[in-house]
Amino acid sequence: MNDLEKIVSEAIDQFASTRESAELERVKASYLGKAGRLTEMLKGLGKLAPEARRESGALINAAKERIEAALTARRAAIALAALEARLAEESLDVTLPGRGRGRGGIHPVIRTWQRVEAIFRSIGFDVADGPEIESDWYNFTALNNPENHPARSMQDTFYIEDKDSSGLQLLLRTHTSPMQVRYARQHRAPVKVIAPGRTYRVDSDATHSPMFHQVEGLWIDEHISFADLKGVYTDFLRRFFETDDLQVRFRPSFFPFTEPSAEIDMMFADGPNKGKWLEISGSGQVHPTVVRNFGLEPERYIGFAFGSGLERLTMLRYGINDLRLFFDGDLRFLRQFA
Ligand code: FA5
Ligand code: MG
Repeated sequence: MNDLEKIVSEAIDQFASTRESAELERVKASYLGKAGRLTEMLKGLGKLAPEARRESGALINAAKERIEAALTARRAAIALAALEARLAEESLDVTLPGRGRGRGGIHPVIRTWQRVEAIFRSIGFDVADGPEIESDWYNFTALNNPENHPARSMQDTFYIEDKDSSGLQLLLRTHTSPMQVRYARQHRAPVKVIAPGRTYRVDSDATHSPMFHQVEGLWIDEHISFADLKGVYTDFLRRFFETDDLQVRFRPSFFPFTEPSAEIDMMFADGPNKGKWLEISGSGQVHPTVVRNFGLEPERYIGFAFGSGLERLTMLRYGINDLRLFFDGDLRFLRQFA
């Protein structure tokens, strides 16, 4: 049975020289498979006499067990080597700096929005929000723009094909002024509110964009006058621009929903715009017809409203001359405000 000893040591040597499991399984088959060397020997036992058969059988089985033990050990060794190779390949260098996530920043127009809210809240104004898809009743009719009146085309409107549930024409609001009516109809007088938000017009150049932001202001009580408008708005501008060195003037103008109406202009005492009057907002004393549409008696309630462009305020605060920069999404521009 020297043969057996030889087979076992050959098997162990061959197992040891394999590098991967498929190869190992092929070598195993050449010993223990159907036509393997050890299998052939077991088949040959049938030809032996019973005594010799028992003896040889026991020896062959012992050899088989040694080969199987060597096989199991080699399988484990190959699996371990494979795992180590994978770990080495996928290893993390924990000392590398992280990729990080870009930090977001607040858009300059939204910064203005937040400043405006904070200033008006501090003097007792509520802050309201309303729909950007509006009916022409709130956007125009309730604000004293009669049907087919040329005042409607003062603001070029994006109309929406669908009508609302009561058959009213829908549109993208052209200003935040419809919020005067919505808010006043939902609250008891006195009414003291600002309504910042997005507005839309068929408009596009260096100072006009199809989507822009306004903030509406409305203060209605039994004795609110144009003098209050001057005081509140001048105080707002001084706080917004962080300087008392600015002049404010109210220049006669026209809006269907205010009477009298005024454009508010301001002038800085310093800086690149020094000495130039800059238009900043529309304003006026709320028209009696509009007060009636609020559900209030115009004989008793009176007050002012204004509507200011948030892009315009932002451009003046930072000295930006092209409004399109706000909407291009160019990070070189936006990072300056982060
Ligand atoms: C109005 O929209 C009135 N609703 C304002 C108002 C409210 C008057 C309450 C009286 C009482 P006007 O069309 O002038 O007015 O717009 C007001 C401001 O919005 C402008 O001064 C300007 O700063 C800004 N604005 C108007 N159109 C655009 C546009 N296309 N892009 C950017 N800003 C705009
Ligand atoms: Mg105007």
